[in-house]
Amino acid sequence: MNELVEKQAANRSAPQISVRPSRDSDVDAMLSIYRRHIRRGVDDSVDDSGTPEPDDLRDRRKNLRSHRLPHLVAVFGGEVIGYAYVVLFRKRPAYRYTVKHSIYIHHDHVGRGVGRQLMQELIDACAAQGFRQMIGYIDGDNAASLAIHDKLGFRRVGQLPGVAYRYGRWCDTVMVQRSLGAGTTEAPPPLGFGR
Ligand SMILES: CC(C)(COP(=O)(O)OP(=O)(O)OC[C@H]1O[C@@H](n2cnc3c(N)ncnc32)[C@H](O)[C@@H]1OP(=O)(O)O)[C@@H](O)C(=O)NCCC(=O)NCCS
Repeated sequence: MNELVEKQAANRSAPQISVRPSRDSDVDAMLSIYRRHIRRGVDDSVDDSGTPEPDDLRDRRKNLRSHRLPHLVAVFGGEVIGYAYVVLFRKRPAYRYTVKHSIYIHHDHVGRGVGRQLMQELIDACAAQGFRQMIGYIDGDNAASLAIHDKLGFRRVGQLPGVAYRYGRWCDTVMVQRSLGAGTTEAPPPLGFGR
């Protein structure tokens, strides 16, 4: 994490990035970003024994598409430098308006506003699809991720002490949540949405 924070401090100028839906041809770049962060121990759920293979990511993308779940990449100079996506929070039908997200920025591009732009576009895309709540699980030591979620309107709704054992120690998970669109102020779209 220290290396990540140092990179963020060094990357002062914001690059001109574009955000678009991911493609199969982006899978290798996304895996490379993910594997690097896993080796640094930032992910809240896996250690390096749980790294997905390219085919896993391709299958996941196809599955997300069929459920209208946004899966986005940030592109700079023709290179994929970050990705963010959502899955359904739970599979049972009652939870079909709630998504759980993940975001990863290439370690050379952290601290330049890429995460903020990509995350905002993910939020907007999920709201446009009619989802109403967005949930994130963040490692309690992940200051960068906690900060970006605070700044984008997520509330810290729970702390799960010692639920992860990674790299030789027990780690807390912080649960964050944000309303999308009308949130809970209106009834949802018709049954069958997002299935
Ligand atoms: C967490 C992550 C997505 C943040 O993306 P980023 O591009 O580095 O963040 P940004 O430069 O867009 O910063 C967003 C905001 O958070 C703040 N922030 C970022 N890192 C911070 C840190 N270490 N401490 C305090 N604030 C921080 C920034 O100041 C910025 O606020 P501002 O827009 O008001 O200036 C990125 O660091 C990353 O991919 N980390 C590894 C993977 C990961 O942890 N994913 C999340 C798993 S839950």
